[in-house]
Amino acid sequence: MKVRSQFVCQQCGYQSPSFLGRCPECGEWNSLVETVEDSSQLTTDNSQKIEENLFKLSEIRPQSYERISSGFSEFDRVLGGGIVPGSIILVSGDPGIGKSTLLLETAVAIAGVSGDRVTRISGKKKDPENLNTRNPENQILYVCGEESPQQVKMRAERIGRSTKAFDNIYLLPLTSVEEIVSACIKVSPSIIIVDSIQTLTSGRLSGSAGTVGQVRECAQVLQVLAKKSKIPILLVGHVTKEGNIAGPKVLEHLVDAVLNLEGDGMHAFRILRSIKNRFGSTSEVGVFEMADSGMCEVKNPSEIFLSGKVGETAGSVVCASMAGGRPILAEIQALATATIFGIPTRRVTGLDFSRAQLVIASLSRAAKIPFVNLDVYLNVAGGLKLGEPAVDLAMALALASAARQRPLKRRICAFGEVGLLGELRSIGFLKDRTAEARRQGFTDFVTPERFKRVEEAIEYVLG
Ligand code: TYD
Ligand code: MG
Repeated sequence: MKVRSQFVCQQCGYQSPSFLGRCPECGEWNSLVETVEDSSQLTTDNSQKIEENLFKLSEIRPQSYERISSGFSEFDRVLGGGIVPGSIILVSGDPGIGKSTLLLETAVAIAGVSGDRVTRISGKKKDPENLNTRNPENQILYVCGEESPQQVKMRAERIGRSTKAFDNIYLLPLTSVEEIVSACIKVSPSIIIVDSIQTLTSGRLSGSAGTVGQVRECAQVLQVLAKKSKIPILLVGHVTKEGNIAGPKVLEHLVDAVLNLEGDGMHAFRILRSIKNRFGSTSEVGVFEMADSGMCEVKNPSEIFLSGKVGETAGSVVCASMAGGRPILAEIQALATATIFGIPTRRVTGLDFSRAQLVIASLSRAAKIPFVNLDVYLNVAGGLKLGEPAVDLAMALALASAARQRPLKRRICAFGEVGLLGELRSIGFLKDRTAEARRQGFTDFVTPERFKRVEEAIEYVLG
């Protein structure tokens, strides 16, 4: 059957047989997206299929997932305990952050273990609906759309894991999604890695790779492949300049998990954060370090993010922040210098800018610290990003200490929210935070439970 495609306006649903820059119906620019038109489903008799596919909730047996380990315990934790067979996982992040490295290392780790360690399904016919994946070894299909196989090989050698596993990794430098399905039938892999979804194209659409229609269509094909064959697929996804995942929002709805690899180019630390996870919690993070030989796990992040002299100089305060489901101690640094000219500067890295402004404003009013003539710089040491309001208090103490140019008198760990009027508000996960701080040798906690107002807390720590 010949496949036809239509261009459909994503705003109002207007359909056109050819591409139009502007929708004649609603007037929106660039909203028409190529979509495969499939009318066959409407005309055929579905009654048999419905008979087989209609279930009562009470009839469904709970399924226990046998998960595949990625070889990294940090990665497994973010996934909720490992890779679930038949799931699609999207790994997104800025260019050069280490997505390809992480996934290649995962490929090598999985290829290195013998095949009976992972779940597999059996079948007779080799078609995508019933793949025979009874291999003695774990084969990996690595679709390298962005790089040549030589580049992948160079990276694999740099990672320097067991070269024995290389025998089980198949590289496919093709980008047609139909060819990937064929290669999948031939290799019967334990896992498929696609680097990246933006390089794939489907022959059913005429648009070029990376367009909204192509990304959606290819992701849909891969989703069907994953669900039917029970082979998990790891996708690499690009992010736009604003930090959103490039391509249609539907990509995020389609996949089972969206993991974001964060970090900045200046630091070696990378944080893998789960944004969506159908098989686990979204509050988990994994911490990695980009080393010369690939990604290394960081088992004890607090130790890394606290330098030796933390808390001893003016403007440095330790806080316990919940990075996902686990507390991490981090150092907040503030610098306040006299404004030489014009409007005072506010520079904030790793913290929420509007919360920082709010804290500065409430400090000026409640604690009578004048910031009008001070340039303020705020930073989280180590390149961590702390977005929660619980870091307000540490931010306030760091700012006060910087403005008064006096280091803290005590070795403290602070956490709490600062309100507009200078009042301190309780925060969640108090036990977890104090437990982690105790583990790192802190015994003096400055919290909303001890102090009602921000100026009292400042008085206590600066004296
Ligand atoms: P890469 O995985 O290619 O990033 P992405 O796929 O997200 O674009 O990582 C590229 C960067 O990582 C590059 O700047 C080099 C650095 N790198 C290391 O520091 N150590 C290593 O072992 C590897 C393989 C890369
Ligand atoms: Mg890459």
